[in-house]
Amino acid sequence: MGARLLTERPELLTAVARRVGTPVFVYDADHIRSQYGTMRAALDGVPHRVHYSVKANSSVAVLGVLRKLGAGVDVVSVGEMARAFRAGYRPGDIIFSGVGKRPEELEQAVAQRIRMVNVESVAEFDLLCRIAERQGGEARVGIRVNPDVETATHPYTQTGKAGMKFGVPLEEVATIAARTLHMPSLRLVSIGMHIGSQIVDAEQFGEGASRLRELVAQLRDLGVTSLDGVDVGGGIGIRYIDETPLKLDEYAAVLRPLAEGTGLPIVLEPGRYLVGNAGVLLARTLYRKHSGGKTFVIVDAGMNDLLRPSLYGAMHEIVVVGGAAADTGSDGIDGELVDVVGPVCETGDFLAKDRYLPGAVPGALLAVRSAGAYAFTMGSTYNSRPRPPEVLVDGDRWAVIRERESLEDLMRGEYTLDQVDAAGGWTETSGAGVRIA
Ligand code: LLP
Repeated sequence: MGARLLTERPELLTAVARRVGTPVFVYDADHIRSQYGTMRAALDGVPHRVHYSVKANSSVAVLGVLRKLGAGVDVVSVGEMARAFRAGYRPGDIIFSGVGKRPEELEQAVAQRIRMVNVESVAEFDLLCRIAERQGGEARVGIRVNPDVETATHPYTQTGKAGMKFGVPLEEVATIAARTLHMPSLRLVSIGMHIGSQIVDAEQFGEGASRLRELVAQLRDLGVTSLDGVDVGGGIGIRYIDETPLKLDEYAAVLRPLAEGTGLPIVLEPGRYLVGNAGVLLARTLYRKHSGGKTFVIVDAGMNDLLRPSLYGAMHEIVVVGGAAADTGSDGIDGELVDVVGPVCETGDFLAKDRYLPGAVPGALLAVRSAGAYAFTMGSTYNSRPRPPEVLVDGDRWAVIRERESLEDLMRGEYTLDQVDAAGGWTETSGAGVRIA
């Protein structure tokens, strides 16, 4: 289905690595387009809108690819909102979600008149009311519900069960909704959920969808007539190694009754599905070593670049670009299982464990697959490792869409003590903000 995988283009990946260096993230615009098209086709006949979840991959170039396809965005911070604006999205394209929005963030969301703010607690709703009243006009609000649905995913990526920090508890939804009836400054436009991520079983979405359907009926009984969408969040599971990905026809089949039963269009917030398998992380083997009966392939990318294996025990396929070169190194035994590890000073710094990876000899170029989602965006500069660059391939062209960070970038905004002294940067601890030169 769709685009050729980047790993089927070894000359291209080799050329990028040679020109830009490693580690480097490489994304394929055609793959994103193909995923978007497949998803829209699967939902044919179910009225819907797609709001891409920016946290998966927030590169402004990637956001631009999706904007041209007609997607909106789902953001969780003013940082992501600024990226969306930079990529050309308009306020009406933006949904603002997230469990802990700061007052300034809500102020900005209301002032920009974005499509909707999804509130996640009564306290946040109260604050949004005050801000909307003060600013005047009418803010569009959605309620993200905690539908109490369990998903069969990693515990860290489950979000829809009662007792988790996400969403408004079911029993509080009606109270919030009823309050909006008397508020000219707020318009309740959506009821929604996001039950988790990397979900491969449509049944779990179905369970959440029926809760949402019941809620919509309940709110209409209360007199709510302003809803113009029902938000089912993201969470579509993809294939990393050998998972059976979520079947989109089954997904569409559980969403259709929600759309038909409520008469409302479905709002989707996919992240991983659109970009996950569009990206690879290229790394080079630095050394091999044997220790305690194990073989380690030490590469120049680490947990700071791709955290998922360390954080979730996530499996990413790794291939030697251009196929396995003959493993002629004196210490390289064909057929052995290796741990692929990074240079970071943590035992948890690994990209793969017990993998069969012949040809990963020093100097070999490796592609870590499925690195388009939650890869660069979850990266850090731990061990003072500058962030890698990002490259976008579009058909027969490619471009650097983010430069590799320099050492200057790494220390931007930091001061030596001499600089603090020279700038009079000290403040008395006792003197309520009195500055001393
Ligand atoms: N909408 C909301 C409100 C979300 O919190 C998320 C993801 C999405 C949509 C998109 O979910 P997706 O379609 O990508 O599954 N770091 C983890 C994933 C965390 C997802 C957080 N929320 C990982 O690397 O697996």
